[in-house]
Amino acid sequence: MPKEKLAIVGLGYVGIPLSVLLADKGFDVVGIDVSAERAMKINEGVLPLKGDEPELDELLAKAVAKGKLRASTDFSMCSDRDAIFVCVDTPINESHKPNNSRLMAAVTSIGENMRKGTLVIIESTIAPGTMMNVVAPALERSKKMKMGKDFKLAHCPERVMPGRLLYNLRNYDRVLGGLDKQSIARASSIYSRIMKGKLHPTDLTTAEVVKTTENTYRDVQIAFANEVALICETLDIDAFEVRRLVNSCPFRDMHVPGAGVGGHCLPKDPWLLVHGGKAAKPKLIPTAREVNDGMPLHIVDLTMKMLANAKIDKRKACVTILGASFLQESGDIRNSPTIPVMRSFKSCTKLTVHDPYVTEIDGVDVVSDLRSALEGADIAIFMVAHSQYASITPATLKKFMRTPRVVDGRNIFSTEKMKKAGIAYSGIGKRLS
Ligand SMILES: NC(=O)c1ccc[n+]([C@@H]2O[C@H](COP(=O)([O-])OP(=O)(O)OC[C@H]3O[C@@H](n4cnc5c(N)ncnc54)[C@H](O)[C@@H]3O)[C@@H](O)[C@H]2O)c1
Repeated sequence: MPKEKLAIVGLGYVGIPLSVLLADKGFDVVGIDVSAERAMKINEGVLPLKGDEPELDELLAKAVAKGKLRASTDFSMCSDRDAIFVCVDTPINESHKPNNSRLMAAVTSIGENMRKGTLVIIESTIAPGTMMNVVAPALERSKKMKMGKDFKLAHCPERVMPGRLLYNLRNYDRVLGGLDKQSIARASSIYSRIMKGKLHPTDLTTAEVVKTTENTYRDVQIAFANEVALICETLDIDAFEVRRLVNSCPFRDMHVPGAGVGGHCLPKDPWLLVHGGKAAKPKLIPTAREVNDGMPLHIVDLTMKMLANAKIDKRKACVTILGASFLQESGDIRNSPTIPVMRSFKSCTKLTVHDPYVTEIDGVDVVSDLRSALEGADIAIFMVAHSQYASITPATLKKFMRTPRVVDGRNIFSTEKMKKAGIAYSGIGKRLS
């Protein structure tokens, strides 16, 4: 049975699975969050996250029942901990700069309460330079402790993803940046209890750049695929066929175009990298962000064109949006591309939003019954590739919609099938004829 006493600060998509896996391996774990409601739910053994997260609710209930995990809003519980993990959200502000207010609040409270010898591990994604310029000074300030001598410091950014939280945590390799060898050795001995993947040791700044670059790489690749999709639409050819053929060439891996990029991470991590590397005046990364942010508006354009072709006034249209979360099989709506699309159609006669995992988005109630969502609609906009949508047939659309028209943001249907069924159809990277 491991002896270390641990605290996890920030009990969200990252902090909860981490707490649960550590508690399951026998560590004494205290979870700390600013939300009393969240702490209460966890203490009741109830998972406060939406979406399909295999095994997580059972493991959480088990850890709480065994007394290995308890949650609180009280940072004084950090005072007897050997290691404290920080998993708070790290958003950006409107001018794309890091908003470190939650991170600062968390590390300041930790600094005020931790004892000498504590290891502090930041798991949150942060701009390059944050460990040395923000986190370390805040920890040193509170009790006049010296980093290295009085406390140890590591940065082990997460690679989890909603829908695969436990799987990724257990199986993926991770990068572990440390202040010194002891920081890395102590953090490694804890992580190696819960993961099968390899730990790659490095320094703190390299770990910050690796994490933000991973997500930036993906964002830029998606932007590239989206730009190719927009080109294909103007040439009246299918971007998905182009992708298939491009990827038949060795060493090519074109990503999948789509209706936009959402979630807590991908829309902001590139800006964290840009902020940390601003001296290099990055150009490609901000442009990629702009391309991806433009995709929901392109969906609006495709929808408006289809309504105009059918001579339907937008204000008189009944519009159904399918998919509210930012990702398939998830209830996470943070920065969901569905939000800007919804806002464009709020003034139409009837706006219906359907999602199997979400109950409310941007002040609008979300329906979970697919049939009633489609009933009477003039146009259906598919924003998320939830597996449930793959079973929708042209016959279903024709049966329930007032007039079957589809805008496909996620390549759910084939142009041929839709045309054959006489359904007006367009979408990201789709042929018009
Ligand atoms: N969600 C993901 O899939 C994912 C993947 C990799 C990395 N990350 C990174 O991990 C970090 C956390 O992301 P998340 O998705 O878990 O966020 P989240 O919003 O789900 O959870 C954050 C939690 O921190 C709490 N919190 C905020 N300020 C606090 C404070 N001062 N003290 C204590 N608790 C506080 C919030 O109440 C919330 O419960 C972010 O930096 C994110 O970029 C997230």
